Amino acid sequence: MKNFIFQNPTKLIFGKGMIAKIAEEIPSGKKIMVTFGGGSVKTNGVYDQVKEALKDRDFIEFWGIESNPTVETLRKAIALGKENGVDFLLAVGGGSVIDGTKLISAGLKYDGDAWDLVLRGAYSETVPLGTVLTLPATGSEMNSGAVISRTETKEKYAFYSKHPVFSVLDPEVTFSLPEKQIACGIADTFVHVMEQYLTKAGESSLMDRWAESILKTLIEIAPKIKEDKTNYDLMADFMMCATMGLNGFIAMGVSQDWCTHMIGHELTALHGLTHGQTLAIVLPGTMRVLKEKKAQKILQYGERIWGLSTGLYETKIEQAAEKTEEFFRSLGLATRLSEVGVGEDTILEIERRFNERHAGFGEDGDVTGEVARRILEACK
Ligand code: NZQ
Ligand code: ZN
Repeated sequence: MKNFIFQNPTKLIFGKGMIAKIAEEIPSGKKIMVTFGGGSVKTNGVYDQVKEALKDRDFIEFWGIESNPTVETLRKAIALGKENGVDFLLAVGGGSVIDGTKLISAGLKYDGDAWDLVLRGAYSETVPLGTVLTLPATGSEMNSGAVISRTETKEKYAFYSKHPVFSVLDPEVTFSLPEKQIACGIADTFVHVMEQYLTKAGESSLMDRWAESILKTLIEIAPKIKEDKTNYDLMADFMMCATMGLNGFIAMGVSQDWCTHMIGHELTALHGLTHGQTLAIVLPGTMRVLKEKKAQKILQYGERIWGLSTGLYETKIEQAAEKTEEFFRSLGLATRLSEVGVGEDTILEIERRFNERHAGFGEDGDVTGEVARRILEACK
């Protein structure tokens, strides 16, 4: 196990009806800005619950944070927040609303353009932020990351600020999710765990088992959720898998990869593909191309998660990739670039972009433009 410092200050407020608690969590006298996406919260009762909880508080609303939130939209929110002297933010939505609000929270404390903050990669002077999560997937409700896009240049980069001070997780609010978003949320969570697990063997038995427990739970609940997405206990487990998958707990003292995500972000930036969908396509390719360096961990994954205990070494590695691909297909997702209309020109563009940025992703920093191209070639 490697040295690490761990601290996660986010207070989780979990369960049915818990949105009513938000007013207690926001200090009195705050000027609050509540941020939303495109309006799903108006049809599933979440908006009404938030309004009721804040009925005696001073708040304004900002609507329209889109999926893959753009700096162009967020600049407007920052301007509105500055005009109104906002000193507390409440993000109500999925990862996009929460991520976008993280940039707003930093932008309110910064005089220059918000895109500077994204390019800088980190900014820790922020206005405090609470969240009401409506889509389990990103873990943004309990981490300090955000991924921000710029439409103008088709760029999408990660940026780090502060953790939310609290996050409300009510599984009932997920009952209205469309099947596609559930599938993408499960795939995203699965790949978050794999990015922190499928690296070097023997770093920590405990982290391995924690990661495997999330993977196993997702595999177990996914088909049941497909049958009934309004089953409270199933959605509760899904929500906790997503939060635990990317809140730092399973990353303590172990190597992390993230190359599948970096390649996936490019596919979203260039083609607007949904985040979880990009990962379902790229991860099996990553496993196949990096199979030598990741061999020991792929074999462990194959054996413990999919029961692949017999057969030749090479066969077991390929079977582990196949099982992973089959799982994503069982969710109803595409697993090949050709299915989503992405061709060779995009592969070459991603290689070019990685080279231009001198990219070196992965646990050893060796996933360069050329390696990314080979991974994408394996996803055709
Ligand atoms: O905008 P509204 O109308 O609310 O609709 C949203 C949106 O269309 C809808 N939705 C959300 N909750 C709903 C609902 N519809 C019905 N019922 C509900 N309860 O779902 C759609 C997708 O929402 P979005 O927030 O875009 O999805 P997600 O949570 O998957 O977030 C994706 C973004 O997060 C980033 C991704 O790159 C992407 O930009 N990520 C953030 C990470 C982080 N902060 O740590 C890590 C991840 O790897 C990821 O990169
Ligand atoms: Zn992700």
